[in-house]
Amino acid sequence: MILKPKGTKDIYGFDAKYKLKLEEIIKEIANSYNYTYIDTPVFEHSELFHRGMGDTTDVVSKETYDFKDRGDRSLTLRPEGTASVARWFIENKLYGNLTEPIKSFYINKFYRYDRPQAGRYREFTQFGSEIIGTNDPIADAESISLAYTVLEFLGIDNLNIYINSLGDTESRENYKKALLEYLKPHKEELCNDCEERIEKNPLRVLDCKIDGHKEIIKDAPKTIDYLNEDSLKHYNKVKQYLDLMDINYTEDFNLVRGLDYYTHTVFEINHGDDLSIVGGGRYNGLIELLDGPKTPAVGFAMGIDRVINLLNEKEVNLNIKDNIDVFIIHVSETEKETAVYLAQDLRLNGLVVETDFFDKGIKGGFKSADRLNAEYVILLNDNDLKENLVTIKDNKTKDEEKVKMFDVAEYLNMRL
Ligand code: HAM
Repeated sequence: MILKPKGTKDIYGFDAKYKLKLEEIIKEIANSYNYTYIDTPVFEHSELFHRGMGDTTDVVSKETYDFKDRGDRSLTLRPEGTASVARWFIENKLYGNLTEPIKSFYINKFYRYDRPQAGRYREFTQFGSEIIGTNDPIADAESISLAYTVLEFLGIDNLNIYINSLGDTESRENYKKALLEYLKPHKEELCNDCEERIEKNPLRVLDCKIDGHKEIIKDAPKTIDYLNEDSLKHYNKVKQYLDLMDINYTEDFNLVRGLDYYTHTVFEINHGDDLSIVGGGRYNGLIELLDGPKTPAVGFAMGIDRVINLLNEKEVNLNIKDNIDVFIIHVSETEKETAVYLAQDLRLNGLVVETDFFDKGIKGGFKSADRLNAEYVILLNDNDLKENLVTIKDNKTKDEEKVKMFDVAEYLNMRL
């Protein structure tokens, strides 16, 4: 038997309904913020992610699915969407005549060779959004607001928004120096990876899965103390805009996020203290790093699999329809032929209709109708059909009526 690869899953049953409904809700809310949908390739040239996200990050150094295609090109299954959207922006020269920022969103599958566990998969889905072309703190606040609004709309409680600022390049470099000086004497206490990392990128020690929780990290220098005047102003404005939108947040001065491209605002939305549902921030240097012109940008990504797990745990319904409107029962072959075109007609009239695939007859048909929670049952009968009549039975009250074939759709639509 061939099983699915480790860290992947089949989405079916109620999870599949959640997924489709979630996509609908996300599209509607993203539309109200005026974001347009973008779909980028599942694989890109490896260099895009390796350079964009940073070679010292866990995602790039340990988790990318890198492969050579038959033309000997180095390709990578996308581990995230930000670098792809930045590539799209540069490749299509969208920077040429930017009169408004470009606001886009995506709902895609992503791939990371991570250790599978609850809520952590090797193939997972993210809803992400990116605003490119503005450094206005209003964009940082809007990003947080969009992610939070979706989660709130879904009825997920116990949400905590954590924010911090890494500042601009100057502030970040000053902070990095201070952090390096602080970490050097503690080198021996760090894990092997971090011992190597501190010279290359000391920030990565702060979000290391092993060292990140150690006391030495808790006492490390804080980014907020190294922000220059402009960076502090930017950060304060983001907080002010969040206050104006009545969005509560907690400042976490140890939050640096695990990817290299961040500048200024970084944020996470957790369920409870630990489960990260959303991660995002500003990345003013990424587009330049990928050979585009210097262009400010900000965005986030939400883990859809984690959201679905939470909806399941809380048994949130989201008004998902899990029954059918009509089940059509036939006995003879001519009745079955009628069922075929009647079902087609009713479906075109917006009804959810099922027919009998196993010629179960009347008793079996009613059992199917009950299993599928049908609101109505249509009983076809050759004698009635001669007069163009069908019997419609309310499956709850068991009341029944004979209705002219041409009136069936209207009859049902008025009652459902
Ligand atoms: P990230 O923090 O790597 O950020 O991922 C964002 C979210 O994706 C996480 O909070 C989590 O919910 C979900 N996620 C990540 N890895 C997995 C996994 N292995 N299994 C299930 N869910 C996962 C980014 O990806 C950035 N591109 C976000 C961003 C957009 N920053 C700016 N724009």
